[in-house]
Formats: sequence, structure tokens, C-alpha cells
Amino acid sequence: MLEAICHRRSIREYTDEEIPIEQLREIVKAGIWAPSGLNNQPWRFVIVQSPEIRERLALQTHYGHIVKAAKALIAVYLNVEVMYDEVKDHQSAGACIQNILLAAEALNLGGVWLGQILKNKTEVNKILGLDEKHDLMAIVALGHPLHRDQKSKRKDISELLLKEL
Ligand SMILES: Cc1cc2nc3c(=O)[nH]c(=O)nc-3n(C[C@H](O)[C@H](O)[C@H](O)COP(=O)(O)O)c2cc1C
Repeated sequence: MLEAICHRRSIREYTDEEIPIEQLREIVKAGIWAPSGLNNQPWRFVIVQSPEIRERLALQTHYGHIVKAAKALIAVYLNVEVMYDEVKDHQSAGACIQNILLAAEALNLGGVWLGQILKNKTEVNKILGLDEKHDLMAIVALGHPLHRDQKSKRKDISELLLKEL
């Protein structure tokens, strides 16, 4: 688990290999098993494999090349009607999205959390045929990694740990 957490990287380039729908559902299930306040499970999902829909979504973000290159997308939403606390429901969505990324890793897939597309979330809802009670949190782009040479870094714990009491 610790290895997966530390070695997961954002994967933005993919091979042509398709992802079976069963694997995509398994990844969504991992998202569903995230913790949520009061266990209210405010998340909702759309799985997108259709190249035509991906083409349309690609126009909504600066990262359209990733949306087009990915073999599948998982759009993660909050259903605002089941939310009970602004901060806590958004935290739950974050936990859900991280579970999705780690599940992709476990299946030897690669994924990246796309947030920039949120600036066009109304348009994304139109493309996906969803009403305004669904608030887009992220789109996760998924595919088989073209390579695993990605580098990333983090600040040292000494910069971030405020106190040990
Ligand atoms: C809230 C959020 C929004 C993000 N939005 C984007 C995005 O729009 N496009 C993108 O390429 N990566 C996006 N990322 C991925 C980050 O760039 C990436 O996680 C960060 O650079 C650390 O790299 P790593 O995931 O490989 O460790 C986003 C990540 C988060 C958590």
C-alpha cells in the first residue's frame, strides 16, 4: 500500500490498448469504498469510453490532448442534493478520486486527475447529459501507460511538519 501511494505518478501518455469495462467498474467501486462523512456517499460517476464524447470533452480543457489520448475517462461528481456539509463532502470527493487513481495503479493502468476542465463544468454536464444537481469534481483520464519514466517530487517533511508534540 505504501509503495503504491509513493510510486503512483500522474500518467498522461497511453498505449492503444483498450480497458475492459469490468476494470473500469472495478475502479469506480474502489472510489465508492472511499470514506465519506456520515457515510453519505455523495459521489456519482460517468464512465466515458466513446471517442466521439472524448473529442467533445477535449475541447473543454487545455489538457484536451490527454482526454483524447486516454482510453477511458471517469467523471466524478457530487450530487448536491445528498450533500450535508460543503467542506466534508468535497473532502470525500477527494478521497474518492485518490482511491480511483490507486485502483488504476493496482490494475497496472495509469491515470491522471484532471481539474482544469472544471472551468467548463457546465458545458461538460451538457455533453454528458447531466443536470445541475451534479457538480463536477474531476475527470480522471485512464489508459495503459506508454512508459513509466515520470518523475515527481515532494517537499521534505521538515518543511511541512509543523510540530511533533
Ligand atoms: C486537484 C487537482 C487537479 C489537477 N488537475 C490537473 C490537470 O488539469 N491536468 C493535469 O495534467 N494534471 C492535473 N493534476 C495532476 C497534478 O499535476 C499532479 O498530481 C502533480 O503534478 C503531482 O504529480 P504526480 O501525481 O505524478 O505525483 C491535478 C491534480 C489535482 C490533485
